[in-house]
Amino acid sequence: MAKIIFYGGKGGVGKTTCSTANSISYAERGLRTLLVSTDPAHSISDVLGVKIGKKIINLRENLDGLEIDPEYEAELYVNKIRENMKTILSNVIIEEINSQLDAAMVSPGTHESALFDKISDIIIDKFEEYDIIIFDTAPTGHTLRILTLPDLLEGWMGSLAKKRKSIVDMNKMVTRKYDKKDPVLEILEKRQKRFSEIKKIFNDNDNVRIRFVLNAEKLPIEETKKAIKMLNQFNIPVDTLVINRIMPDDIGADFWEKKKKQEEEYLLDIEKEFRGKEFIKIPMLDTDMSKDTVDRLSKFFND
Ligand SMILES: Nc1ncnc2c1ncn2[C@@H]1O[C@H](COP(=O)(O)OP(=O)(O)OP(=O)(O)O)[C@@H](O)[C@H]1O
Ligand SMILES: [Mg+2]
Repeated sequence: MAKIIFYGGKGGVGKTTCSTANSISYAERGLRTLLVSTDPAHSISDVLGVKIGKKIINLRENLDGLEIDPEYEAELYVNKIRENMKTILSNVIIEEINSQLDAAMVSPGTHESALFDKISDIIIDKFEEYDIIIFDTAPTGHTLRILTLPDLLEGWMGSLAKKRKSIVDMNKMVTRKYDKKDPVLEILEKRQKRFSEIKKIFNDNDNVRIRFVLNAEKLPIEETKKAIKMLNQFNIPVDTLVINRIMPDDIGADFWEKKKKQEEEYLLDIEKEFRGKEFIKIPMLDTDMSKDTVDRLSKFFND
């Protein structure tokens, strides 16, 4: 059985719901389970009604939870780079680079690298402690970029380390002072080692599983097709699809009445909670998305 499961899929298909439910089922079978949210929206806390944070907490027997905050991790990540730089560069250069790092903090690439660093830490540090680690991710694009990062980053780190090494070797030839271990090279080599460690875990197909959640509707099907194709290019197989929100076989009037009643209650809640706002109400259609359906829906926008 896989140790690490990533839940991916289009926005709103049920990744958080299904990854949480799956974690509970493993925990109930006696497996030590860790559920990790990498979604900035942090909805596991909302689903379980428990405040989960940056530290691992126990949720119930055999089940622990943790929410990674990409914003916070990016800040830590950039600050770590700042600290490392201080030891090797002059103040003038540091000031210039600092302003570049401030800009990097808000760029999506930094968030993903920081998030990937954190995910790697969890996997490497907790691999022995838990039987299963389940990751709930933000919508597809995000998951794909995270999963394909080890390949990209390892190559990139490797070429940076190689370049740095040739500079260090050259310096050694011209000055004799350079016999201390180069701090930049040390950082690069350390990160490279971590990436190959995580890649080794990722590349063992028995360790990692990707579960794509989808609904039996056109758009999630299309998105799942594209995602599987892309992951195949990186040799990351997807062998399980979780098809969520399938209507029950014995569906009858009482099912719809119950749904309708629940909806009415929530509509009242929305009107109360967001009093003063304007509401545009769009009905659920009995057909799937297509040009005709959006045409039909367009009639409800009268403002
Ligand atoms: N099987 C189900 N039956 C009924 N409602 C469901 C089911 N699965 C999910 N939902 C509801 O659908 C909504 C979206 O679910 P969820 O938050 O799990 O999706 P998600 O894929 O994690 O979304 P996001 O992409 O925003 O992270 C929620 O309101 C959830 O309660
Ligand atoms: Mg979610």
